[in-house]
Amino acid sequence: MARRKKIYEGKAKTLYEGPEPGTIVQYFKDDATAFNAEKKDVIEGKGVLNNLLSEYFMVGLGQVGVPTHFLKRLNMREQLVRSCEIVPLEVIVRNYAAGTMSKRLGIAEGTQLPRPIVEYCYKDDSLGDPLVTEEHIAAFGWASQQDMDDILSLALRVNDFLSGIMYGVGIKLIDFKIEIGRIYDGDFQRLVVADEISPDSCRLWDIKTEQKLDKDVFRRDLGSLTDAYSEVARRLGLMPNNPASITKPTLIN
Ligand code: C5P
Repeated sequence: MARRKKIYEGKAKTLYEGPEPGTIVQYFKDDATAFNAEKKDVIEGKGVLNNLLSEYFMVGLGQVGVPTHFLKRLNMREQLVRSCEIVPLEVIVRNYAAGTMSKRLGIAEGTQLPRPIVEYCYKDDSLGDPLVTEEHIAAFGWASQQDMDDILSLALRVNDFLSGIMYGVGIKLIDFKIEIGRIYDGDFQRLVVADEISPDSCRLWDIKTEQKLDKDVFRRDLGSLTDAYSEVARRLGLMPNNPASITKPTLIN
């Protein structure tokens, strides 16, 4: 059997050359990392859940007119996406203080922000993805002013969409990170939401109990990560409600 070409291996995903030019296969691994890969583990089933959840969010975004790189899910762990050039920024949107914002500014986790706040980090693992301003982005040419206007608008549209979907299933969207890709159509470029959207890249709290249903469960040793991600998938209707009722095959006489 012909071996496909690996393009890139990241912390949570491996990218392979797709079946047609301009396509890529994203394979979701079970590897979990935190604190710039200082903490590592393999969480059985995480890749399958993230593949499913990311498909759900990307398809939904497409349906409300937000362009993404997603084409289709291929199987349990893989999805076909359009190949794009990734803008070297992590775009973070925050609705409530948490994580590094709480640490940096001394704001209690869970404090509602007066409005969504968008932050940019320069994508460089060796530097620990440092927070940067639009001045850095413009001066170093990571994105143009037009790109930044489009990126801000994409980020806020994703925020509205995700917040609404989550609110509908009793979950508060605290914050999330997206990546942006450039796709070239002839002389023109379009910016699309790329990479993945999953509980690996969002903070999701149960509205009533404030139970964490995201990667903080792994970062902070709060219990089973697959249980948390399965709960998100279950609430969104992506899992059988009662898997325990699935029985073994029985012999038909
Ligand atoms: O760590 P911090 O509070 O800055 O993270 C903000 C949001 O961005 C969180 O939802 C986190 O999961 C996500 N994030 C990410 N990848 C990174 C950094 C942050 O998905 N490298």
